[in-house]
Amino acid sequence: MTAITEIATALRAGQKPKFADHADSPAYAAELDAKDPVRHLRNEFIIPTRQMINRKSLGPLPSTVDAQDAQPEHALYFCGNSLGLQPTTVGEYVRAQLATWASIGVKGHFNALDPATTPLPAWQDMAAQCAKQMAPLVGAASADEVVAMNTLTVNLHLMMASFYRPTATRHKIIAEWKPFPSDSYALESQIQWHGLDVATSLIELQPDENLYISTESVLATIDEHAAETALLLLPGIQYYTGQLFDVQRITAHARSKGIVVGWDLAHAVGNVELQLHDWDVDFAVWCTYKYLNAGPGSIAGAFVHQRHGKVEPKSTTANGKTPPQSQDGKDDLDVDVRHAGFAYQPRLSGWYGGDLSVRFTMAKTFQPTPGAQGFQLSNPSAIDLASLSGALAVYDKTDMHTLRNKSLALTAYAEKLLDGILQDALSHDAAAAPPFRIITPANPAERGAQLSILLRDGNVLAALAAAMDEADIVMDQRKPNVVRFAPVPLYNTFADVLKVVSVLRRVILS
Ligand SMILES: Cc1ncc(COP(=O)(O)O)c(C=O)c1O
Repeated sequence: MTAITEIATALRAGQKPKFADHADSPAYAAELDAKDPVRHLRNEFIIPTRQMINRKSLGPLPSTVDAQDAQPEHALYFCGNSLGLQPTTVGEYVRAQLATWASIGVKGHFNALDPATTPLPAWQDMAAQCAKQMAPLVGAASADEVVAMNTLTVNLHLMMASFYRPTATRHKIIAEWKPFPSDSYALESQIQWHGLDVATSLIELQPDENLYISTESVLATIDEHAAETALLLLPGIQYYTGQLFDVQRITAHARSKGIVVGWDLAHAVGNVELQLHDWDVDFAVWCTYKYLNAGPGSIAGAFVHQRHGKVEPKSTTANGKTPPQSQDGKDDLDVDVRHAGFAYQPRLSGWYGGDLSVRFTMAKTFQPTPGAQGFQLSNPSAIDLASLSGALAVYDKTDMHTLRNKSLALTAYAEKLLDGILQDALSHDAAAAPPFRIITPANPAERGAQLSILLRDGNVLAALAAAMDEADIVMDQRKPNVVRFAPVPLYNTFADVLKVVSVLRRVILS
């Protein structure tokens, strides 16, 4: 067992990890890096050098391996919770797509080129290829439960169009106090779209004084509003605090009360282990530009549980009767009748959700592709899909358990070093309030890679930003006083974490 696996095993078992006494020494960080079982994956990325990250005009990219080896020369990039770094395979796949288009034009839709010469199938099959690559990352039973389409907020709206069907009695949505603004806008506009009032139809889970939302409080809120709630929509990981919710327990409880359950996994996918099928989640949505590294604004993902993906001949429903459409019963969402001939979950439809067997016959009647892919609308951008498939090729070289092991160790290491700053501050002035607190849960089972640092004094943020700029550290800041520190196991190192914390220490203690 390597040191990292040992640390991760302890953390998974709820024990304190054992870092060496000299944990804050470069030698120890280098020792951990040398034993990192996924160290080689860093070579899959273009790590910007310090010179590159400050460019004002476009210049050549260095060889990735050189950039990786030249430790003092690369920027300290800790922003994978916002935009992941570029995998080399993205360029390779996108160039292949452009070359295909240049070579065979419209034939690229259906004609796959020799796989010895391209990583891409025919454009027609690329969404399915991406679904296959994403399925293990979210714990889908098969690729049929996953689709690559649109962008996150669009998918959230599409999923709510299908799964949020309020009635006079069941109309509430349970969300949390501080969703990412786009989620808030989507939730509120959906409620208003149905002619309902946000004040009475939106229930917001409130955190405690540490900005923490306990599973017990979520379950209690579900119990309180169960009879009137149509949908529960939460983030797998809360973007601001970094809290990872107990997706399994919360989903099971809400579903047992007849509530439809959706998750926004923007900050969870590619970050923590997910088992959406086994956890019985109704639907989920995510973006692919954070931990999946597919590029800014890249095509997004969605999960639809297989029970909602069925497409059956209408005659198989009981005596041809239309099943109930209210959400008062547990099973009424499973199959609904909307069109002549077929029974399926209602949705907003477009031709790319149509079954391949009829998609190009230009049939007037919509017949969806079974599964999540039947929720597509448009002909997807092949460049987008090439970029996503290239990014996901990195995940083909590892698995979420191994990555999470490193992530657990890397984030616990960052936390240990940050705690060292707090201890030093205390030893300088025992009476002073701590200069910051980490608002992300200390329990590793309740967080992903990210640690959110809430500075006591908002003025420190400007000084910190200047020092980080100076040291070519790229890290996300949320005004007025939060810094989000997200060590990404695919490309961040223990040595990098130590360097970043040294800069934080200098600014915070000065
Ligand atoms: C939790 C969450 N939801 C929604 C969004 C919005 O995503 P998009 O602009 O891709 O729709 C983001 C973007 O960072 C996010 O973090």
